[in-house]
Amino acid sequence: MSELIKKIRGEIEAKGIVSFAHFMELALYAPGLGYYECASQRVGRAGDFYTSVSVGSLFGELLAFQFAEWLKADACEKCQLVEAGAHDGKLAADILGHLQKFRPQLFERLEYCIMEPSGSRQQWQRETLAGFTGKVKWFDSLAALPAVRGVIFSNELLDAFPVHRIGWDAAAQQWFEWGVRCEGERFVWERMIEPAAKAVRSQTLQVPRELRAVLPDGFTTEICPAAAEWWSAAARKLEHGRLLAIDYGFLAEEFYAPNRANGTLRAYAQHRVCEDPLANAGEQDLTASVNFTVLQVMGELEGLKTEPLATQAQFLTRIFASTISEKGRFDEWTSARTRQFQTLTHPEHLGRPFRVVVQSR
Ligand SMILES: C[S@@+](CC[C@H](N)C(=O)[O-])C[C@H]1O[C@@H](n2cnc3c(N)ncnc32)[C@H](O)[C@@H]1O
Repeated sequence: MSELIKKIRGEIEAKGIVSFAHFMELALYAPGLGYYECASQRVGRAGDFYTSVSVGSLFGELLAFQFAEWLKADACEKCQLVEAGAHDGKLAADILGHLQKFRPQLFERLEYCIMEPSGSRQQWQRETLAGFTGKVKWFDSLAALPAVRGVIFSNELLDAFPVHRIGWDAAAQQWFEWGVRCEGERFVWERMIEPAAKAVRSQTLQVPRELRAVLPDGFTTEICPAAAEWWSAAARKLEHGRLLAIDYGFLAEEFYAPNRANGTLRAYAQHRVCEDPLANAGEQDLTASVNFTVLQVMGELEGLKTEPLATQAQFLTRIFASTISEKGRFDEWTSARTRQFQTLTHPEHLGRPFRVVVQSR
């Protein structure tokens, strides 16, 4: 039995049951033991899943081009790009490499900040970004970050935040929470008696009254208070510029579609979806789709303005069009780079499932 599984069992045995959010927190992030703590090669061909970053450098170059267009309007001396969920630092290297080559003046006045709570991941990032020493600063929490003029962004960060898994009790017309307990050697689901988090109760209020009447008994979904809180905190840090996240997810009402009656939680290992999210703790990724409506509302409450939600295909295609009209500011479109573009934008690959939420101040 792995050290991580022993740790999770110890916590469950002490309490009898824990929320799935707590199980997921430990499985992914228990210091020194969790899935995202132990190896940098989780993402990409040799790992468990691909992201747009692992497709190649083009994704970072397109983002860098767009960020530069946004930042050039700001006459301020210093500006910041703040990345969260930087993992092994590859996206940061792709963005900085592009800006250094094509926007040297902006590169000079730019500070690249990485928001990274984990010491192990900071270490992987420092190794990847050794060529940009002095340009990159690390912060272990949003609270530690000074006010930002620029762009705060992430790719596939919020889908990796721990979610509460909740089910609909049609008779009682309320949500209950799914917890995790031990049964022999295994972890199993069990309905919690207390609706644990305040956030779980507030989910009831988010479901439109007409939908409550028809939502089938046992309909299961996820809520992610951690993502909502993170987004609010990031919005508060943004003095001027944009807050952007690229992730798979839906608007609030899309979560209640009949084909999502079992929610969006899934586990991945070696590029396959795994049956049981409670199995192989620490050896498989756990992820759930992001609720973009919640992010938009949280940002607006902090005074941000919401831009139209775009698919990754729409967002990157617009940037592509600008790279064509702005001559000399982008690397040549070789056949290898064109293939990357197709993977990033094809509706069956990453183009449609991923969406880009942007808010500005
Ligand atoms: C799915 S991976 C995506 C990695 C990378 N952005 C990419 O697109 O290839 C999610 C990353 O977010 C990190 N992460 C999770 N919670 C975080 C937090 N609160 N702050 C910063 N990073 C976090 C995880 O450790 C992991 O490295």
